[in-house]
Amino acid sequence: MLNVLNHPLITHKLAVMRAVDCGTKDFRQNLDEIAGLMAYEITRNMPTKKVRITTPLEDMDTFKLARDIVLVPILRAGLGMVDGIRALIPTAKVGHIGLYRDEETLEPHEYFAKFPSNLPDAEVMILDPMLATGGSADAAITLVKRRGARFIRLVCLVGAPEGVKRIESSHPEVDIFLAALDDKLNDKGYIMPGLGDAGDRIFGTK
Ligand code: PRP
Ligand code: URA
Repeated sequence: MLNVLNHPLITHKLAVMRAVDCGTKDFRQNLDEIAGLMAYEITRNMPTKKVRITTPLEDMDTFKLARDIVLVPILRAGLGMVDGIRALIPTAKVGHIGLYRDEETLEPHEYFAKFPSNLPDAEVMILDPMLATGGSADAAITLVKRRGARFIRLVCLVGAPEGVKRIESSHPEVDIFLAALDDKLNDKGYIMPGLGDAGDRIFGTK
């Protein structure tokens, strides 16, 4: 299911990031902050389990998260979302998937994958600021499923309808969370109006 997190703070920060004159420092900082705000919304319906604890005054029944959380950023740009979410969920473990998109064919190519051992029982959040054709997210979801992941959410900043459609059709059970759903892809596979190349803007490589 597609969830677009329409929240004034998220939309405001995203507007700052989208602007062509937003430099690397402000881009990274706003991405960090949005990722944290998104984490709060995304975890809203996560399963909890009953636990018995002892306060300084007495015993009580209360609740904790039922499953561990594993963040899986798609390199490079997904790395920019890790710290903001970890600020809220410091116990989250982090796996990594290295994918780059061929600029001609737009096909994703895998160059790295490493996951924590609790992946099959954890709530897995795949992180990537951009969901364009959906090829990279599709490949990342397929890879974590092959490694045993069962509870998967896809968390992106900006999505195109083409990418959303692809994930909904290849992985219909995966919930998709976006800060914004944009209009379309251009003929080079960039999201319009989008924010340009997320990896380059985070790491200052262009
Ligand atoms: C970008 C982006 C996604 C992918 C989206 O990464 O961060 O991973 O493209 O496009 P898609 O939905 O059409 O697959 P890129 O391949 O540019 O690598 P980078 O993060 O290293 O810059
Ligand atoms: N990757 C990006 O970084 N930006 C886009 O608009 C599309 C793919």
